[in-house]
Amino acid sequence: MENNFDVIVIGGGPGGYVCAIRAAQLGLKTACIESRGALGGTCLNVGCIPSKSLLNLSENYQNAKKDFNQQGIEIGSLNLNIKKMMSAKDKSVQILTKGVEFLFKKNKVTYIKGKGVIFSKNDIVVYEGENKKSYKTKNIVIATGSAPASLPGIEINEKDIVSSTGALSLDKTPSKLIVIGGGYIGLEMGSVWSRLGTEVTVIEYLDFITPGMDKEISKEFEKILTKQGIKFKLNSKVTSVKSGPKLISVEFVNNKTSKKEKLEADKVLVAVGRNPYTEGLNLSKMGIKKDKKGRIKVNNKLQTSVNNIYAIGDVIEGPMLAHKAEEEGIAVAEILAGQTGHVNYDVIPGVIYTSPEVASVGKTEEQLKESNTDYKIGKFPFLANSRAKVNNKTDGFVKVLADSKTDKILGVHIIGPHCGDMIAEMALAMEFGASAEDIARTCHAHPTHTEAIKEAALAVDKRAIHF
Ligand code: NAI
Repeated sequence: MENNFDVIVIGGGPGGYVCAIRAAQLGLKTACIESRGALGGTCLNVGCIPSKSLLNLSENYQNAKKDFNQQGIEIGSLNLNIKKMMSAKDKSVQILTKGVEFLFKKNKVTYIKGKGVIFSKNDIVVYEGENKKSYKTKNIVIATGSAPASLPGIEINEKDIVSSTGALSLDKTPSKLIVIGGGYIGLEMGSVWSRLGTEVTVIEYLDFITPGMDKEISKEFEKILTKQGIKFKLNSKVTSVKSGPKLISVEFVNNKTSKKEKLEADKVLVAVGRNPYTEGLNLSKMGIKKDKKGRIKVNNKLQTSVNNIYAIGDVIEGPMLAHKAEEEGIAVAEILAGQTGHVNYDVIPGVIYTSPEVASVGKTEEQLKESNTDYKIGKFPFLANSRAKVNNKTDGFVKVLADSKTDKILGVHIIGPHCGDMIAEMALAMEFGASAEDIARTCHAHPTHTEAIKEAALAVDKRAIHF
C-alpha cells in the first residue's frame, strides 16, 4: 500500500506544493512529484524569489550610491561584488526551498523526486535517472507550470542570450543589456541590471509597456522608468538576434514607420512571455484536451477532460502568477476532500516589484469602458502623502474605480512606494464587496502610505482632504 495514494500532484511549485499540503491537511494520502531536485518550482528557484532578492539588493546598492551622501550617511568607497550578491540571493532561495521540504514532512506529504508520466488515469510512472517506479492514485493534479517562450530564430543559450533564468545569475554586470519584451520580467530584471550600472534598452512590440495594465498607470510607469535611465523602443518588432565574437546584434523594425534599426549589447534578455509546460506528461494519449495556446482545458472545478485528473496554475488559463496557482491548489484539494473549493478570479492582485512598485486588482478603466460600465474615478498622488514626502519617494498615484450608481469598488491601480503590500487591503475590500465610501470611512494610520488609498477613495466623491 506504500505506493497507493488518494492524490498525486505532479509539480512542486507554488500551485502543486500548496495543493499537496492542503490535501494532506484534509486527511488525503498525498504525494508530490518534482523533477527539479528542489521544491518551490519556478517561483522559488528561478522566478519570484531570486528576482525579489536581486531587486532588493540592487535597490540597496543604488540607494547607497545615489541617496545616502545627501542624507548625511557618508560612505567612503563603494564596491559592487556581484559574486557575493548572487550568493546572498542563492542563500535566500535555498532557505525557502528547504522550508517547503520541512512543510511536506510536517504535513506527511510524500516527496517523490523524478519526472512523472501519466500512464493511466490511476497510474503514474516516475523516472529518476536510470530508475523507474510506479505509483497508484485515485486522483491526479497536474501543476507542471510554464517555461520561457522565445521568438522564431532566437535560441536562448542562457549565456549571452538569456531568459529570466540566465538574467538572475549573470556573473558580472553587463555594460549593455537589450531586453526583448516590456512586461513583468523585462522590467523587473531590466531594473535590477540598470541599478547595478548596465545601460538597458527595452524593445517592446506594442506602443505601450505592460499590456493588460490600466493604461494611465502604464504610461506613468514608462515615464518613471525612463527617468531612471531605462531606454524604450516601443512599437518595435525584433527581426533578428545574432551572436558575434564579442557582442550580440539585435535588429528590429518600427511597426508604424517601417524604419529599421540595429543595436548591439553584451547580453540580450528574451522576456516575451511563458508557455505552459506539459511536455512528456502523456496528455494526448490520455485524451486530456488543450486549447490553441497549449493550455490544459479545465471546467469550473479545475477538472480536465479526464474526470479524476485536475490541472492548476500556469498550465491552465489565467494570469501566470504564483498566488493564482496557490488559490487553485487549495480549491482542488478541498474539492477532492468533498468541500466547495472556489477561486474568485475577479480579485487576483498583480504586482510588479520595481521601484516604485506597481500593483492592481480588479478591472482597468479600459475594461470598464469596453463593458459599458458607468464608473467614477478617485485619484491621489504620493506627492501629497506625508510619509512618501519624508522618505523622498513621491513618484506615482493611487487610482480607485467605483461603480457610478452603487459606489462598489470595481478596480484599484497603484504605482508608488510599497503598493505591492498595500494592494492587499483593496483585494480584501473587493472580496467583501466594499464601496469607495467604506474605504473612505475606514481610519488609516498616520503617517503611512495607506492614507493615499483612503484619500483616493475620498476623491471618488471629490472630497480628498490633502489634495
Ligand atoms: P509578459 O506577458 O508580462 O510580457 C511580455 C511582453 O513581451 C509583452 O509586453 C509583449 O507585448 C512583449 N512581446 C511579445 N512578443 C514580442 C516581440 N516579438 N517583440 C517585442 N516584444 C514582444 O511576459 P514576461 O515578462 O515574460 O513574464 C512571463 C510571466 O511571468 C507573466 O505572465 C507574468 O505574469 C509572470 N511574472 C510575474 C511576475 C510578478 O508577479 N511580479 C514577475 C515575473 C514574471
